[in-house]
Amino acid sequence: MWNPALDGMSASLSGGKPIEGEHPAVVMRDIAARPRPGGHVMTFANEKGGVGKSTLAFHCAIALAEAGQSVAVIDLDRRQQSLATALTNRQGTARNLKVDLPMPRFAVLDKPCGAQLSQEIARIGQRADFVIIDAPGQDSPVVRRAIGMADTLVTPVNCSYVDLDILGRLDPATLKMRAPGQFGGMVEQLRAEREACGMGSSNWAVVRNRSRPVERRHHSRVDRALESMAQRLEFQLCDGLQERVVYRELFLFGLTHMDIRHIPRLARKNYRTGNEIERLIEQIDLEFEPRPWCADPALRRGRISEKAVQAFDAIIGSYA
Ligand SMILES: Nc1ncnc2c1ncn2[C@@H]1O[C@H](COP(=O)(O)OP(=O)(O)OP(=O)(O)O)[C@@H](O)[C@H]1O
Ligand SMILES: [Mg+2]
Repeated sequence: MWNPALDGMSASLSGGKPIEGEHPAVVMRDIAARPRPGGHVMTFANEKGGVGKSTLAFHCAIALAEAGQSVAVIDLDRRQQSLATALTNRQGTARNLKVDLPMPRFAVLDKPCGAQLSQEIARIGQRADFVIIDAPGQDSPVVRRAIGMADTLVTPVNCSYVDLDILGRLDPATLKMRAPGQFGGMVEQLRAEREACGMGSSNWAVVRNRSRPVERRHHSRVDRALESMAQRLEFQLCDGLQERVVYRELFLFGLTHMDIRHIPRLARKNYRTGNEIERLIEQIDLEFEPRPWCADPALRRGRISEKAVQAFDAIIGSYA
């Protein structure tokens, strides 16, 4: 039901622009009434589709598991399930190559509602150090909850004014932000309501994803715009992944460049993915004590699938 008191509040928070969808105050009250997850919640969200949310969520989840952290992953995108599929592929690769790989626990949210989200976090993430939530590229009540409960919100953007528009409206002459965009305004209000509810502040990292060094001049203009938005919307601007085909191809195996060292047949190779994801985790400044991850040697027994090794070698070898 429409509530004029809430509507007034939303208009004042968004600089006079009414909010569409469920009000952030209602969202935060609902979150505050449910048990809080024990671990650090990291939500990957951007209403804009195809910007690299699932790719970054997958790589962060693996990097944290690799650093000895217990990681629980919730895939909110029950239609595409990209992240859950990558993790399922990873289980298959571990079986085929007879290797033990750092493996987050994961679940797909089949009913998109706040109650189910909290239930799944409690079920698989009870004792997790990190709970990673991958949101679909849309606005919905459950996506708002995932953003509201995030201790760290990660929003990938591609280097394009079209992608930036959803964060903030820009003055084309000065590249200064004139007003929050649809997504930027919604996040701003959810973060304000989160603090008002006494749930503490959240960190918002906007991550430049799929950057191409050849477009350096264009990037520097987009960076100016992003810096103006960062001040106004209070986010941290971070570097994500460069555009590399290998990030797409390894999806079929559910592997990342960090896994190569666990696969003895391939460990000698040098890959050009660098350490972009490790750098991003450092920039976001997540607080955790790295612990050595120990493979289970028992899993090395048995016959390795030669077909899997050859297929993997063909893909990874072409980027070495
Ligand atoms: N750094 C990168 N280099 C190359 N390709 C990338 C990179 N990041 C993402 N991609 C590719 O871009 C496409 C979109 O990525 P992804 O599915 O991660 O985006 P998304 O934001 O989760 O999309 P959606 O909104 O549909 O959930 C995929 O084909 C993915 O493989
Ligand atoms: Mg996705």
